[in-house]
Amino acid sequence: MKRIFIASRGNPEHLASLFRAQLPDHDVLVEQPDPQGPAVPYIVVGRPLPGVIAAVPGLELVLSLNAGVEHLLASGEVPDHLPIVRLVDEGLAEGMAEWVMAHVLGWHRNLRHYEAIQPAAQWQPKPEKLARERIVTVLGSGALGAPVVQHLLAFGFKTRVWSRSGRPVAGAESFAGRERLIEAVSGADILINLLPLTTETADILDASVFSAMAPGSFLINGARGGHVVDADLIAALDQGQLSGAALDVFRTEPLPPESPFWSDRRILVSPHVAAPTHLDMAVAEMAGNIRRFERTEPIPHLVDRQRGY
Ligand code: NDP
Ligand code: OXD
Repeated sequence: MKRIFIASRGNPEHLASLFRAQLPDHDVLVEQPDPQGPAVPYIVVGRPLPGVIAAVPGLELVLSLNAGVEHLLASGEVPDHLPIVRLVDEGLAEGMAEWVMAHVLGWHRNLRHYEAIQPAAQWQPKPEKLARERIVTVLGSGALGAPVVQHLLAFGFKTRVWSRSGRPVAGAESFAGRERLIEAVSGADILINLLPLTTETADILDASVFSAMAPGSFLINGARGGHVVDADLIAALDQGQLSGAALDVFRTEPLPPESPFWSDRRILVSPHVAAPTHLDMAVAEMAGNIRRFERTEPIPHLVDRQRGY
C-alpha cells in the first residue's frame, strides 16, 4: 500500500478522510512518518514547518494545497529532484472569477459612491458608462487569469491580457513580455493582477504601471502582496491617479493592525479569500494526479523551477 503524508497544519484529519475516500488502496498518514520507516512517496503540503519535507523517507512527489508555490521554492525545503504539483482546480478558478467580477462591476457602476452617500440621503447620480467603454487589463492568462478574461469579455469590457508568452485569448488583445507591460496597461480603467510571485514579477505594480493607467483608475490584486510597491500605491491614490484598490493579498498576512490599508476608505481589504481552496475538489484533483503518477502519465501543472511558477 503506497503511503501519503498529509502535512497540512489546517485540518489534516478531514483532508485524510477525503484522501481515503478517493484512494482507498493507499495508506494516508497525518503524523510525521519515521525517517527510518517505509517509504512515503507522496506529501500534501500547505506551508510546512521547516524540516518536515526533508524528514519524509522515499518521497517522490510533492502536492501543493496552494496555487501559488513561491513559499515552497523560496524556502528551499523541497529538494531539487522532487517534482511539485501546484493546485489547479475549477473551484479556485470560479472563486477567483467571482471575486474579481464583484470588484470590477462594483467599481464600474460606482456602487461604493452610492453606498457612501446613502446615509446623508443624497441623490447624486454619477455619469454611468457601459462596459464596452472601459479598458480592463489582466496580468496573467493562466488557470485564474484566462477565465477572468472570459467573464470580462462576456460583459463587453475592452479586455487586454498580458503574460510571459502572450498566449492568445480569443476576443482579448494579448501582450507578451516585460517590454510590452506599459503598453498593456496604458490607459486601462481597471488593472487586475493574477500573476505568480517570482523574481521577475516581484514589485511589478509600481509607479510606472500606475502612472500609465487612466486617471482615476482602479487596481484589483488577487495574486500576491509582493507584487505591489505599497508606497507607490498610496502615492497613486493620493494623487488621484488611482481612485481605489481592492486588495486580497498582502506582504504580511494576516495584515497587521497597524497597516494604513485598514483605515483607508479608498482600499477594500479582504483576508486572502478571493479563491479559497475547496478541499473536496482539491483532493479529487490531487488524487487524480497521484493516479497519473502511478500510471507514469504526464502530470499537468508541474512547477517549472526555472520560471518560478
Ligand atoms: P498560472 O501559472 O496558471 O498562470 C500564471 C500566468 O502568469 C501565466 O499566464 C504566465 O504566463 C504569467 N506570467 C508568469 N510570469 C510572468 C512574467 N514574468 N511576465 C509575464 N507573465 C508572466 O497561475 P494561476 O493562474 O493558477 O495563479 C496565479 C496566482 O494567483 C498564483 O500564483 C497565486 O499567487 C495567486 N492566487 C491567489 C489566490 C487568492 O485567494 N488570492 C488563490 C489562488 C492563487 P504564461 O501563460 O506565458 O506562462
Ligand atoms: C493561493 C491559494 O495560492 O490559496 O493563494 O491557493
